[in-house]
Amino acid sequence: MDDFDLTGRTVLLRVDINSPINPATGQLLNDARIREHLTTIRELRRSKVALLAHQSRPGKDDFTSLEVHAERIGTLLGRPVRFVPSLFGRPAVEAIQGMRVGDVVVLENTRFYSEEEALADAKLEKMATTHIVQRLAPLAEYFVLDAFAAAHRAQPSLVGFCEVLPSMAGRVMERELTMLARAVQDPARPKLAHLGGVKADDSIAVAKHMLEKGIVDKILTSGGVANLFLDASGIDPGPPTTEFMRREVDDYDPLIVECKALLSTFRGRILMPSDVVLNDHGQGKPVSTRALPAKLPIYDIGLDTIARYVDEIRHAKTIFYNGPAGVFELEPFSVGTRDAIDHVSTGGGALMNFLAGKELPLVSALRHSHAKFGKPAG
Ligand code: 3PG
Ligand code: MG
Repeated sequence: MDDFDLTGRTVLLRVDINSPINPATGQLLNDARIREHLTTIRELRRSKVALLAHQSRPGKDDFTSLEVHAERIGTLLGRPVRFVPSLFGRPAVEAIQGMRVGDVVVLENTRFYSEEEALADAKLEKMATTHIVQRLAPLAEYFVLDAFAAAHRAQPSLVGFCEVLPSMAGRVMERELTMLARAVQDPARPKLAHLGGVKADDSIAVAKHMLEKGIVDKILTSGGVANLFLDASGIDPGPPTTEFMRREVDDYDPLIVECKALLSTFRGRILMPSDVVLNDHGQGKPVSTRALPAKLPIYDIGLDTIARYVDEIRHAKTIFYNGPAGVFELEPFSVGTRDAIDHVSTGGGALMNFLAGKELPLVSALRHSHAKFGKPAG
């Protein structure tokens, strides 16, 4: 954004404000992602801003209009923000054409329109032929791409505009990529990754990439990721835990094979819990992992494990942290997850794809736009 003079210009701004919504009331449950984008929106106060975003996916019960998001943006900015229940129909076009400097118009959920999903992963030139791009691009001079949390999704409203408009990263995108690059490249050792949560498939790919490339020295595991490594190391967590994990991950058995290979290649560098907390009818029941398999499900890491991990964390210079250590939503199982953190990424899947060494389509699209349109004069 530093390279362009956007004063008085019409800008299409793609953000990721996909947020938890109570399906019964339609109310926003968390506006963290909306708040993150305020910096970019405020910086565009001398432009005319048409804001594009998605909420959830077709078929889900929080797949809703962006009206509540628009309202919240207005409240947080302290000025009215107009919502138009259309993405590229006449109401949207007229709203964009009628904007004055300082106006923000929020367009409808991009995923209400079939092209967004149907042409996902198509070639950039193909995505640029969609109605979304064809109808909106002529109304604007620039495209600001700020949706870091969707950086792993190649969809027309995210990358299609990069083919036809000079495009630039917004401030969220810029900060996220800068922080991540800095953390990955920082030579100060030791560096650690803590991998928890139930999206264990992603975490195994991240563990592999980070250890192979020497990005981290050690991996601390907890949550569902630890359950997999425990099983792979010959410690059967017990039926309720393994049955849960089999439901959560796509292919349990191949993942276990993968974990075994990692444990033998990177001997001593993948740490596992030495004790866990079982859920005994809502009460926490601490046990050593030597006492496994258990008839009760594992809900948290234990105090010995916390002490061992805290010691590692204390000596580390950089820590990548993903996923909770246990079922932290329930108070008796939240102990392992309490932590102090400097930079909280807005990205889930996007961050994990980056840390697994995968190319992010949004970053490629920005590079493409830069190559095609170059930097502006001056
Ligand atoms: C997210 O919340 O992870 C991003 O907005 C991407 O959403 P998606 O996983 O539904 O594509
Ligand atoms: Mg997601």
